[in-house]
Amino acid sequence: MTIQSALRVKIFTLFPEMFPGFLGQSLSGKALEKGLWALETVQLRDFATDNHKTVDDTPCGGGAGMVMKPDLLDRALSAHQPLGRFIYMTPRGKPLTQKLAHELAQEQNLSILCGRYEGVDQRLLEAYDAEEICIGDYVLSGGEPAAMIMLDAIIRLLPDVIGNAGTHDEESFENGLLEYPHYTRPAVWTGPDGVERPVPDVLMGGHHANIAKWRQEQSEAITKERRPDLWDKFKKKD
Ligand code: ADE
Repeated sequence: MTIQSALRVKIFTLFPEMFPGFLGQSLSGKALEKGLWALETVQLRDFATDNHKTVDDTPCGGGAGMVMKPDLLDRALSAHQPLGRFIYMTPRGKPLTQKLAHELAQEQNLSILCGRYEGVDQRLLEAYDAEEICIGDYVLSGGEPAAMIMLDAIIRLLPDVIGNAGTHDEESFENGLLEYPHYTRPAVWTGPDGVERPVPDVLMGGHHANIAKWRQEQSEAITKERRPDLWDKFKKKD
C-alpha cells in the first residue's frame, strides 16, 4: 500500500464546509486518515471577479431558478488541473451502479462538480467533456449529498479499505442479484410481538453446500419480488 496509489478527489462546490461530512466517519473516515484517499475542496465563489462574488445568472430563455456561470467554473477548473476523470452530479446523468462504482474506484484522480440552483451552463459541461452521473430517480437540493453518496460507494471498494478482499463478492448487485438475508445468535429470538423466531435450520447445520444453495435461492426470490428489472437481466444472462 503506497500513498501514490491513493485516490485523489477534488470537489468543486459552493459549500465546501459540507465535506468530508459523513465521509469523515467510520470506514471512509479511517481510510482518509490512513491516506488511502485524499480530499481537496474548491470554493467556487473564490473565482468570482465582481464585488458581489456572483456565481450564477438568470436562465437564457426565461424560467425559474439560476444557472451557474461557465466563465466562473472555467476559472476554477483550469486552476486545478489535472482533473482526471471529471464528473458532474445531476439528476440528468447516467445512473450510478455498482459496476460504475468499481470502474471509478480504479481511477487515480476524480474531480466532481456539485451544482446548486437549476444547474450549470451546458457549454461548460461540453467544453470539459463532463461525465454526468445521477444517484437515483429523485431530485436533491444540490450535487453535494449526491457526490458524498457516490464517493462512499467508491471508497469502500478501494484496496485495503475493507480488510477481507472477498467481502464484496456476495454483496447486493455484485452478481446481478440482491443479497440473501443474514442471521446471528440467539438461535431463537422472541420479538416485541411475542413471536418466537428461530434462525433457519439450514444455517445452523454447518453443511456448506446446503447453505450456499439456500442463500442462492433466497437471493433469487427476493430479487424477483423486489426488483423485477434486475431479475429480467439476470435471467437473460443464463
Ligand atoms: N443533484 C440533484 N439531484 C441529484 C441526483 N439525484 N443525482 C445526482 N445529482 C443530483
